[in-house]
Amino acid sequence: EEKNLEEYLEFAISLVQECGQIILEASKERYSKINKIYEKGENPSDLVTETDKIVEELIKSKLNSKFPDHKFVGEETAAAAGKHHGLTDEPTWIVDPIDGTTNFIHWFPFVAVCIGLTINKEPVVGAVFNPFLNQLYTARKGNGAYLNLNTKLPLSSPNPPITLPSSLSQCLVVSEYGSNRSSTTLGKKFRSVHSLMSKPGDVTWGKKNAGLVRGIRSLGSAALDIIQVAKGEADIFWEIGCWEWDVTAALVILRESGGIMVNGNGPNEEPVNILERKYLAVRGGSLYAGDKTVEQSQLRLVREFW
Ligand code: IPD
Repeated sequence: EEKNLEEYLEFAISLVQECGQIILEASKERYSKINKIYEKGENPSDLVTETDKIVEELIKSKLNSKFPDHKFVGEETAAAAGKHHGLTDEPTWIVDPIDGTTNFIHWFPFVAVCIGLTINKEPVVGAVFNPFLNQLYTARKGNGAYLNLNTKLPLSSPNPPITLPSSLSQCLVVSEYGSNRSSTTLGKKFRSVHSLMSKPGDVTWGKKNAGLVRGIRSLGSAALDIIQVAKGEADIFWEIGCWEWDVTAALVILRESGGIMVNGNGPNEEPVNILERKYLAVRGGSLYAGDKTVEQSQLRLVREFW
């Protein structure tokens, strides 16, 4: 199995690098037809370009010739089929050809091609490449997470060790506005953002007064938000409404960096189900208090978040 994962990751790396070049080339022709922009369905803030489609088709056909028995889930394939699918135990490649399509169109340099693999429904291989910044993030289960193949994540650990925050008030959070702009959805989202940003006691959220976080950032790519947490440059990722192709590859990288992810269902601590579209992640790091495990500290932050 170990050997297979290595082979799968190597192939995923070659694909994200090849596709990264295509994305960069295409971005030069910002307004030409290769970047013809479509609004998915009726929603003008959910975009797809020709490049999304070309890249997904390329990845799909190359994976299919190399691993004909494997399954494939891709953002644009799912959108074209107009339906969702279940995840089986078979090896399944989960692909977002361009995470951050709006960024790609605007040259906002947080764009990623994401290739993840699940086996027995567990994410085990992840490759995320940002061609604008030439940053490649990779991981396979049990082998650590890396930036550009040789820098271990999180970045400053273990020397000097980065300590986990001891409360939400020390946390930098990454989150997204998402593409659903209905006033109900946005209303909920902004109430939550308000609660995170306001002083403890001012606003209640859920059962408790919410803590004040240090700040909230939004890169426009859920995958790269999660990568920020894996790097140790942000403490918490939270998003409701993105999809498994946005998170699967980055989730392997996050876990291999020592981070954890749960579904954003409240203070339960079930491991994430990638199909649930609610994601809350906390980074790894060293112990903040000598007598507690890293995981206990992480789960405490998860509970505090709610
Ligand atoms: C989107 C981005 C965005 C998130 C949306 C996703 P796409 O992916 O990850 O950050 O808020 O929910 O759909 O459409 O650019 O691949």
